[in-house]
Amino acid sequence: MTDNTTAAADLVAGDRVAGRLYTDPEIFEQELTKIFERTWVWVAHESELPGPGTFKSTYVGKQPVIVTRDRKGELRTLLNRCRHRGASLCEKPSGKANGFTCPYHAWSYGLNGQLRGIPYPDGYEGVVDKSELSLKKLRTETYGGLVFATFNEDAEPLEEFLGDARQWIDLFMKQGGGYPIKVLGKHQFKFRGNWKIQLENTTDGYHFPIVHRSWMASVDAETADMMSFMNDPAAITHDLGNGHSVMQMVPEHSDLDADDGSEPLQGRFDDLVAELSKTLDEAQVRKLVRAMHGTGFNLNLFPNVSMSSAFFRVLRPIAADETYIEHVAIGPDGPPEVDAVNRERLRIHEHFQGPFGFGTPDDAEGWDRVQRGAQGAPDMPIMVNRGIGREKASSQGWPTAHVTDETGMRAAYGKWKEMMGDD
Ligand code: FES
Ligand SMILES: [Fe+2]
Repeated sequence: MTDNTTAAADLVAGDRVAGRLYTDPEIFEQELTKIFERTWVWVAHESELPGPGTFKSTYVGKQPVIVTRDRKGELRTLLNRCRHRGASLCEKPSGKANGFTCPYHAWSYGLNGQLRGIPYPDGYEGVVDKSELSLKKLRTETYGGLVFATFNEDAEPLEEFLGDARQWIDLFMKQGGGYPIKVLGKHQFKFRGNWKIQLENTTDGYHFPIVHRSWMASVDAETADMMSFMNDPAAITHDLGNGHSVMQMVPEHSDLDADDGSEPLQGRFDDLVAELSKTLDEAQVRKLVRAMHGTGFNLNLFPNVSMSSAFFRVLRPIAADETYIEHVAIGPDGPPEVDAVNRERLRIHEHFQGPFGFGTPDDAEGWDRVQRGAQGAPDMPIMVNRGIGREKASSQGWPTAHVTDETGMRAAYGKWKEMMGDD
């Protein structure tokens, strides 16, 4: 067990972290207060809250919240906890409502969190002032359609926290092929392991050809070729600061607008191209089809969300050895003609990320195995030193190494150490 916060921060060095970072319940409790309740946490994509009255229930760390769009269209994040005796107000994952009424004694709240009504109010005369009993509000800010919330009134503005990651968010959103991005659907699962194992995985290019051999064998040759980045020197990972990093697996797809027309569209999309070409012009079809696998990179935002090629991967810590994950499929929010694009995008998503897919189940086995193994010799280090000897500053000043290197993990653990060492 750790005695104090300094001790926890000391368990991270530049090139290694102690195995107990995955297993120690006391460290886990500190992470909830020092990280998840202090920094910006991803809560939604704006398309999940399309109009006034729409809401989504989720969590910031372990605290339940409701993200709402109020009558004026403003996004709010409210603690999902009644001000009377603490019952959760909303158990629906998403929906549309005029407000929230507590199931216990029916105190009712507006979409902006204001307490509107108390049944049988005579017992409260001179006792409560309704204006003082609004739902607790979290700061809520957005960038590029991504909605983040924080409990920390003193946190820097979201844009400052995202910093250089913003330009990669902008690039990521280009996969709409000229249309905005919307959420197509999501699936959820838990794994028996620590949240940081998952945070690492989205910036782990090294495991790809090993763990995803069965996926590579299951796809067409053009897709397998596209994802054979092990020996591509142009495939690199940048540390973007503040714990964020970007791992470029298919650098020629990092900026989908940079297209000289020389790359052939994949043969697997021939039927899709034929269908889209009935109503859309050639340039538009090319834009949409070239973006079918998303952007060529995983953008890892500390601490809980990754923009992973063509989907969002969101993590929620449950316990030191348990993590909840959402895989959120996305696609262009366009006219009915692009429905065919989104149908195909969902099939691609299922093929890798789905519960019966060829990708994520193999990843999850690896994560479970790390948790199991890390229970042995808790102070034996986990190594995150791959590529440290060849890391160089990019022209933008970002520490950069090959896509298979552990630069992104070092970025995340650097931020972890900074936040865990803060009082
Ligand atoms: S706990 Fe919500 S009204 Fe009583
Ligand atoms: Fe993987």
